[in-house]
Amino acid sequence: MTNILLAGRVPQDCLDELDQRFDVFKLYEAEDKDAFLAEHGVKIDGMTGGGVDVALMDALPNLKIIANYGVGYDAVDVVGAQERGIRVTNTPNRLNAAVAELTLGLMVSLARNMPAADKYVRDNRWTSEGSMPLTAQLAGARVGILGLGRIGKAIAVRCTAFDMEVAYHGRNEQEDQPYHYYADLAEMAANVDWLVIIAPGGAETDKIVSREVLEALGSKGSLVNIARGGLVDQSALIELLANGALRGAALDVFDGEPEVPEALRQMDNVVLSPHNGSATRQTRYQMSMQVVENLSTYFESGDLLDKVI
Ligand code: 8YV
Repeated sequence: MTNILLAGRVPQDCLDELDQRFDVFKLYEAEDKDAFLAEHGVKIDGMTGGGVDVALMDALPNLKIIANYGVGYDAVDVVGAQERGIRVTNTPNRLNAAVAELTLGLMVSLARNMPAADKYVRDNRWTSEGSMPLTAQLAGARVGILGLGRIGKAIAVRCTAFDMEVAYHGRNEQEDQPYHYYADLAEMAANVDWLVIIAPGGAETDKIVSREVLEALGSKGSLVNIARGGLVDQSALIELLANGALRGAALDVFDGEPEVPEALRQMDNVVLSPHNGSATRQTRYQMSMQVVENLSTYFESGDLLDKVI
């Protein structure tokens, strides 16, 4: 029998399916994780369900594959895995629509001040105070997408359908894309009303949305982060939002999440969401099955369906 370690919880569908095909070991249920790993670590062939550092890899000397539950694999030490000959897969594509939908949802929510509008009606202020102040619309506005990958393209298509003017920045200009390419991120920020972050996290993109980029976006601009909190200089973001040097922000991810700085939680010009990009029943089911298929296929044939390394 093949033995799979779950570092953290996975959805019930995923667990049920893994149980059918493998022997499953739940690290997250162990009271003493070191003792659990000392007892079972040597038996483990594959794993999923959370971040993996080299210390965990070294506690699993026969680990052959890490099937990352998520498209972003920044929580897996890929270099460490490569050095140990461990393969890594992820879950691309099936979450594109869910993440893109939430991106547009957050943008509409921020532009139209929907959280405050909802509260306005609930608090019965409509009857006593009349209409709310006017808001802004997306149609006609300019959006710059940082990272025109699979999800970035799904966002671009939807922004186009909302009659926005779309540009993008990434390491390279892509052929056959109808959108304007900026080689320089700060230059793009200076020329858009919305900056949408959908690039991978990790060391290469750490704080790539720097104070300089945020200042270039400026008081005309709003930031949307649906990728990873680490891409943004969060202290600069808070400071610029607080003094009006940035118009607003719609944030699904945070540096240090699930902790969210009190300052952000108090601001009116932000819309907050608890890392919900892919969190629909349909998408999470698809991702669950994708993880199981990645593991099963590897152990049956040695093939990697969604290969990272
Ligand atoms: C994951 C994500 O579903 O896929 C990703 O990279 O950010 C999320 O949508 C989540 O990290 C899994 O817990």
